Amino acid sequence: MKKCIVIGVTGGIAAFKTCQLVSNLKKKDYDIHVIMTKNATEFIAPLTFESLSGNRVSIDTFDRNFEYSTQHISLAKKADCFVIVPATANVIAKIVHGLADDMLTTTFLACSCKKIICPAMNTGMLNNQITQENIMKCKELGYEIIDSDDGYLACGDIGKGKLADIDLIEQAIEKSLEKPLLKGKRICITAGPTQEAIDPVRFITNHSSGKMGHALAKIARNLGAEVTLIEGPTSLSDLPWINTIHVKSAKDMFNEVTKRADQFDCIIKAAAVADYTIKNPATQKVKKQENDLTLVLERTDDILAYLGQHKKENQILCGFAMETENLIENARNKCIKKNCDLVIANSINTEGAGFKTDTNKITIIRKDSIKEVDLMSKEECARIILEECFKGESYVTNN
Ligand code: CTP
Repeated sequence: MKKCIVIGVTGGIAAFKTCQLVSNLKKKDYDIHVIMTKNATEFIAPLTFESLSGNRVSIDTFDRNFEYSTQHISLAKKADCFVIVPATANVIAKIVHGLADDMLTTTFLACSCKKIICPAMNTGMLNNQITQENIMKCKELGYEIIDSDDGYLACGDIGKGKLADIDLIEQAIEKSLEKPLLKGKRICITAGPTQEAIDPVRFITNHSSGKMGHALAKIARNLGAEVTLIEGPTSLSDLPWINTIHVKSAKDMFNEVTKRADQFDCIIKAAAVADYTIKNPATQKVKKQENDLTLVLERTDDILAYLGQHKKENQILCGFAMETENLIENARNKCIKKNCDLVIANSINTEGAGFKTDTNKITIIRKDSIKEVDLMSKEECARIILEECFKGESYVTNN
């Protein structure tokens, strides 16, 4: 069944950003129900949210064309997550005191699901001690607060009070919808390419985008794990609620991974680490010459092989294998040689799989088994990989 997200919209100018949030979530196939306060309808027409969500917008508790007596209760029962975005000082004050004088606050009070509050208001209103105390009270009540940002506000002031980034709010919602199946687990994920310097302005790298590693980090985090992401240079933004360590070269990655490897219950090496680096990189820019230029390459240390050799008891080690030929054979050999529990093999020749795509076609290889997985999004692949990693442990189920 589709997860149900109730989005409460209150009367602030940031309400226009909620349209994008509803649109994004709808595309991900959630069941979205918007409740607006009367003031919110001064900023955005309910029809906008109705068109975007595909569901009728609730505003008035006593709407005569509607089953008013049950609407707030049925939505409250249905909701897997209730998020108020934007949340004005007024609505925050009401919800911490249990006031229920419209559809939004009535439904909120009746709801027992996860609740997320995204304040957006003028800096003065936000900094007012009463608002600060109310926000604190929300936290004590177990509501998640997505703090507003600093910036230029619609009133012309510059300061805190700007609605948090929509992507951040979306991630908080998706995180709240998951069962914490990996709670208490510490997982290290490596992602992206490495860069091996030729001189101060040039380097050798590969096509890795870091997307598969990011998908793994995001899903592991959503499932409640404590995630450390060790990432080579990518164009991706840092993920919230994840400890991200940025590295450049294979040597940096080796150092950052191995020095903390003992802390983790599971290490997933999705990074495309360079096998060779430049021997004696130039300290000054290399000038062009008439003749050919020869670069001397030397081997880097194999991080995965090192981790396999120094694996602590019960630690789960998952490698990746990107191949252009003999996928299964090569991946299985890597699994055995590097002492991995499993290796995720993908072929660069398969359409929809590989470096820069949002989808992947993986095969899960263990020393004694092979499991083919259909082409799917990298996030769906990530879920399957994590389930495979923790297979046999009681906290992982198949939903
Ligand atoms: N890997 C690593 N350190 C390296 C090279 C690779 O940790 N110096 C890891 C990768 O993160 C990946 C796995 O080893 O999880 C396999 O990487 P891949 O490049 O497919 O294979 P290699 O072992 O490097 O072998 P080859 O390049 O010959 O295929």
